[in-house]
Amino acid sequence: MSRAARPGSAAPAPQHGTRPDAAGTPTPDRRQGRAAPRRAAAGSASASADAAVLAELRPGQSVELLKELHILTREGRLNQDSRRKLKQVYHLYQFIEPLLQGAAQDGHAPLLADHGAGKSYLGFILYDLFFKTLGRGEIYGIEWRADLVERSRALANQLGFGRMQFLNLAAADAASVEAGLPERFDIVTALHACDTATDDAIAFGLHKRARAMVLVPCCQAEVAACLRQTKALQLSRTPLAELWRHPIHTRELGSQLTNVLRCLHLEASGYQVTVTELVGWEHSLKNELILARWTGQKKRSAAERLAAILDEFGLRQVLGARFGVVKTDGLTAAD
Ligand SMILES: C[S@@+](CC[C@H](N)C(=O)[O-])C[C@H]1O[C@@H](n2cnc3c(N)ncnc32)[C@H](O)[C@@H]1O
Repeated sequence: MSRAARPGSAAPAPQHGTRPDAAGTPTPDRRQGRAAPRRAAAGSASASADAAVLAELRPGQSVELLKELHILTREGRLNQDSRRKLKQVYHLYQFIEPLLQGAAQDGHAPLLADHGAGKSYLGFILYDLFFKTLGRGEIYGIEWRADLVERSRALANQLGFGRMQFLNLAAADAASVEAGLPERFDIVTALHACDTATDDAIAFGLHKRARAMVLVPCCQAEVAACLRQTKALQLSRTPLAELWRHPIHTRELGSQLTNVLRCLHLEASGYQVTVTELVGWEHSLKNELILARWTGQKKRSAAERLAAILDEFGLRQVLGARFGVVKTDGLTAAD
């Protein structure tokens, strides 16, 4: 063991012809000959690591944004975790890009509204990958937490993403005249927007005659609460009520049923619906992706099935209005 390395002993002052290494240990000059190539090697390793990161990004993608979203590490690198996040983002983007391209045809400036935007992760990625290069179109983030809205505004400002707006609004109020949003939107997204915010996003999309909606629903408590209330009655009526007898099943069936009703509602309102899995979103149990594209063909059979399911589960009184279903008294739910 050298003196400098001996525990408790002070490192000797560097002498002529020696220089301290990172640990303060004097290093003889003869070793400097090896240090320079080592530095050069470290530099080139770092450059090749940077090049490897850039190779995984799309041309022009903002490294600054990816760092802010923790998709790149602070040092601008990809570790296992951040590489997975980047893949997830690209996976989601592959569903949305064709919809944006369709909306941008013939010089149209696409308008997109993102409900329950949170930190506006999705909006920022879409702006960076699509809207920035397109040079037209706008993204509106709708979020009821003022702190998140402020934060997103500051980040958009920092990045120069000038066609992003953030509105401190409840999703249910976004379609109202007071909200002052444009009359039509091309695309509506809602990624893990909690509880009924997905339903509010759908209502907004219908009101604004959106060409497409991209929805990844989150937890949903409303239908489960209705199922819970009528459980005893349903158990005496039908063996199918076994499907939601246990509390965990009530919750799961409530979520499943909600998404089925949403899909039927969209089909009955003139949308073609695809339901798939948001693969790679393993960190969330909620990874059902509902893609709805406007065709204008309102499916009567979907409306009928929707009404039948609401009746079968005793949900018509509570949820008929949301899904545009006629009440049992012959009035439309909206009456
Ligand atoms: C789970 S986070 C998802 C955020 C973002 N979409 C994402 O995927 O990263 C849900 C966000 O929706 C917001 N939110 C929930 N319900 C809302 C509502 N009714 N109106 C507006 N924002 C809502 C919450 O404040 C939260 O920021």
